Amino acid sequence: MTRPDPHAGFRRQRHPGFELWVDSPEESTAAFAQSVVRGLGDHPRWLHCRYLYDARGSALFERITEQPEYYPTRTEAALLREHARDIRALVGAPTLVELGAGSSVKTRHLLDAWADEPARYVPVDVSLEALTMSCAALAREYPGVAIRGLAASYERALPLLRELSPLVLVFLGSTIGNFNPEELGDFLERVSAALAVGDHFLLGIDLVKDVRTLEAAYNDRAGVTAEFTRNFFARMNRELGTRLDLEAIEHVAHYNDRLDRIEIFARFTREAVIELPDLGRRFRIAPGEMIMTEISRKFRTDEMAATAARYAFETVRTFT
Ligand SMILES: C[S@@+](CC[C@H](N)C(=O)[O-])C[C@H]1O[C@@H](n2cnc3c(N)ncnc32)[C@H](O)[C@@H]1O
Repeated sequence: MTRPDPHAGFRRQRHPGFELWVDSPEESTAAFAQSVVRGLGDHPRWLHCRYLYDARGSALFERITEQPEYYPTRTEAALLREHARDIRALVGAPTLVELGAGSSVKTRHLLDAWADEPARYVPVDVSLEALTMSCAALAREYPGVAIRGLAASYERALPLLRELSPLVLVFLGSTIGNFNPEELGDFLERVSAALAVGDHFLLGIDLVKDVRTLEAAYNDRAGVTAEFTRNFFARMNRELGTRLDLEAIEHVAHYNDRLDRIEIFARFTREAVIELPDLGRRFRIAPGEMIMTEISRKFRTDEMAATAARYAFETVRTFT
C-alpha cells in the first residue's frame, strides 16, 4: 500500500507576485456534467451549488454581497475588522489558508493584522478566473505576504494543508451553511484530519434570525440573486451544450423554519428538455417544476460548537 501524492493532478503556475496551483480542468468539466446527471436523475431534483461559481457566477456573487438586503457580508466584515488583532494574537500562526475565498474582500481585515510580520496567504477556490484576479490584486496590495492560490475543491485542497502548518484555516461567508447535515459531517471530518495539533479553524456562520430579514437577503430587489440562480443554467448551456431558455426559469427562495435553512430553487415556468449530448442523457422538466440549487443553513452558536466537538474541535472564542 502507499499514500497518494496530494499534489498529483495540480499544475503550478508562476504569476508576477504570486503562484497558483491549478487542479486538472478536464476533471472539473466532467465532474460538472456527472453532478448534473446525478441531481436531475434524483427525485426531487437538485443541482450542486458549487457549480454556481464559474467566472460569471463569482462576479454575480460579489454583486449580491453589495446589495442592501444582504446583511451577512457587512456583518462579518465588521466582526473581522473589530477582532482581527485578537484573532492574530490568539492563533499565532504565520499562514492563513482560506476555503472558498472568492474575492477575499473581508479577509483583508485579517491580512492587515498579519502583514506586519512574514506571512503567507493561501486562498482556495474552484472559480479559477476569480481566484487569479483576486491573487493578482492581493499581491499588489500586500507585497510582504507570500500568496499561493489553490484552484481546487475543498476536498482536493485539504490534504495539502499539513505541509502549510502551523496555520489558521478560514471559512467565511457562512459557506458552511451550503452543506446538508451529512455533507457537514463529512466536511468537518476532513478538516479535522487535515489540521495539525495547534492549528486553528476560523469559521463564519450565519445565525437563525427573523424570517423577513432572511428571506429579503435571498430575494434582493435588484434581482441579482435571481440572475445568480439562472447563471447555473447559462453555465450548462455554455459548458455542457444544453439549450435551455433562461427566460423560462424563475428564482424562488424561502425559509424552511423546520430545517432552519433558506432553500433556493429554479422554477421552470414552461416544460423544458435538458439534453446532455456528450453523455447521451435527456431529462424532461415539467411546467412548474422546481429544482433545488442551493441551501443556506442558519445556526445557533452552541449547536455549532457541539457539532464541531464531535470532530475533535474545541471552541476557543466566539465573536458575535
Ligand atoms: C458563498 S461564496 C463565499 C465567498 C467569500 N468567502 C465570502 O465570504 O464572501 C462561496 C465561495 O466558495 C467557492 N466554492 C464553492 N464550492 C466550493 C468547493 N466545493 N470547493 C472550493 N471552493 C468552492 C465559490 O467559488 C465561492 O467563491
